[in-house]
Amino acid sequence: MARVKRVGILTAGGDSPGLNAAIRGFGKSAMGHHGMRVFGFRDGFRGLAEDRFMELDSSTLAGILTVGGTILGTSRDKPHRMPVDGETVDMTDTIARTYRRHRLDALVCIGGNGTAKNSLRLAKAGLNIVLLPKTIDNDVAETDATIGFATSLAIATEAIDRLHSTAHSHHRIILAEVMGHRAGWLTLEAGLAGGADVILIPEIPYRIDTVVNAIRMRTESGSNFSIVAVAEGAQDVDTNLRYLGMVSRRKATSSGTPERAVADAELAAFDIDHTGHSLRLARQLESLTGLESRVSILGYVQRGGTPSATDRVLAARLGNAGAALVAAGEFGVMVAARGDSTRTVPLDKVAGRLNLVPLDHELVATARNVGTCLGD
Ligand code: F6P
Repeated sequence: MARVKRVGILTAGGDSPGLNAAIRGFGKSAMGHHGMRVFGFRDGFRGLAEDRFMELDSSTLAGILTVGGTILGTSRDKPHRMPVDGETVDMTDTIARTYRRHRLDALVCIGGNGTAKNSLRLAKAGLNIVLLPKTIDNDVAETDATIGFATSLAIATEAIDRLHSTAHSHHRIILAEVMGHRAGWLTLEAGLAGGADVILIPEIPYRIDTVVNAIRMRTESGSNFSIVAVAEGAQDVDTNLRYLGMVSRRKATSSGTPERAVADAELAAFDIDHTGHSLRLARQLESLTGLESRVSILGYVQRGGTPSATDRVLAARLGNAGAALVAAGEFGVMVAARGDSTRTVPLDKVAGRLNLVPLDHELVATARNVGTCLGD
């Protein structure tokens, strides 16, 4: 008789709605349908490094479908650069030892772009990896959808809908700062769905004059309020030039060198300085248009709470497909959503590639054609 398969599972990176639904989808299919044993490692890759785990069973999976966050906990720890006792340590070998000690046949990682890179590293170290894509940013390459995006989109859209009341009643400009890291999907789609007058995304550097003109034109036509959906990663053209300079300086360095460390520090400092940039933008718009301006940073509200039906179904589909891959012994892949089906994509085709909004995307054209200012 074939040995019962033993599978590890972890959630890594920022939490997103639908993580528990994915753990449940994978777990129920792996245990109930394929007869495997499933071990959940806590707090992302750190749980593997520190050998902290719990075996999943029907009671641990009960009632989690609708719950936000992740029962396993998560972290942004990287296997090859993990803070341990005040030092940064390469824990790849330790993780591989944990994997072997538990006699795991596979490790299922639920995460976004950082997790894709870390999964590829562990696959190269000899672990059998299956990746399930999740992130509210929707920026994972080679998949139509990521777990969490649909819920966050609904939350951001509702927020923009609700901001209309105050903007309209007080004759104000209200900026809704939307998450998404370097990708504009969430802002673009929530802005479109919520009827934002201006949508600013990282992929389209904006000119302040263009935004001011769009708002003035609205005032002249009798609408003395405006809603601006602004991505946390949106940049004006000058800031974008500075940023691109930093990126190309980093590209010219090699991994592990002091030059790379300097370039990384420069980019990290830029990100810190850019945090909350919509507050600066609001002050500029207020002084240039004469309209009172306010900001709502939607922040972690977008990542919290119960997943939408769409995310629950996506999580179940990807989890179930992941269990089938483990059963079939197909590893080193991500389970991608493609149309109404799933397919596998090799990890090296996903890791290190961001799915950003293409400038010729239909959504960009649609936003422009319905009269939205995109700032360019
Ligand atoms: O990647 C998901 C995300 O929510 C991004 O949209 C955002 O930039 C980032 O995580 C925030 O990260 P943290 O939870 O570490 O503050």
